[in-house]
Amino acid sequence: MAKRLVIANWKMNGSLALADEMVAGFAAQSNVDVIVVPPAVFVSRLIERAQGSFEVGLQDVSQFDNGAHTGDVSASMAADLGATAAIVGHSERRDEHGESDAVIAAKALKALAAGLMPVICVGESLAERESHQAEARVRAQIEAQIDCLALSGDIAIAYEPLWAIGTGKSASAAEAVAMLKEIRKVLREVAADRADQIRILYGGSVNGENIAGLFSHEEIQGVLVGGASLDTEQFAAIIRAAEKAGPV
Ligand code: PGA
Repeated sequence: MAKRLVIANWKMNGSLALADEMVAGFAAQSNVDVIVVPPAVFVSRLIERAQGSFEVGLQDVSQFDNGAHTGDVSASMAADLGATAAIVGHSERRDEHGESDAVIAAKALKALAAGLMPVICVGESLAERESHQAEARVRAQIEAQIDCLALSGDIAIAYEPLWAIGTGKSASAAEAVAMLKEIRKVLREVAADRADQIRILYGGSVNGENIAGLFSHEEIQGVLVGGASLDTEQFAAIIRAAEKAGPV
């Protein structure tokens, strides 16, 4: 059995005040893993104040170790601070920064090498879904991670259909479960010996209201939460739902 994983992706939002509010309002849960992922500048503050009551991650890490890469942060720097995870391949990075599957694979490898858990995001656009390309797109995104999947170390995959991110229109539980089953199948093909240890999450307009329906399915081993994670009460409700749903 694995603990469900609840990840807060603040994106480019938040403040020191929100970091402190998050810590003050956090009630530790015994059977849920919680990772808060603020903008990089707030990572230290959260780690210092959280005192281990939840983990803290990065929204992205560089594909390089160090050097002349203005604006980037390396996985080993994040690990040095005490961060434990790094989101890689979020669709906003793919779109706004032109990140390819190859770049994302390099980032995931750097995260793993530094001892961080890469949370590898995959997902199709609305056009791809409507033209029945969703499964092929997601399969290709996972197959591109084959080097990372061959290594030991904790990895999570987050299925985030682009049409559900920030739109208020979550995938239905049935749509999410169908794709998560497909992802598990692909993992068993490309990384047979560890496929069942990799937690697969859903992300896209998850909130305090739809979480119970999503967590009623054992395939949904966790969630990546954007907008609703900025509201400490709503985020607490999502964690409570994970606690209630129990390990999978
Ligand atoms: P959302 O974002 O919950 O605001 O849809 C999810 C994500 O992009 O990780």
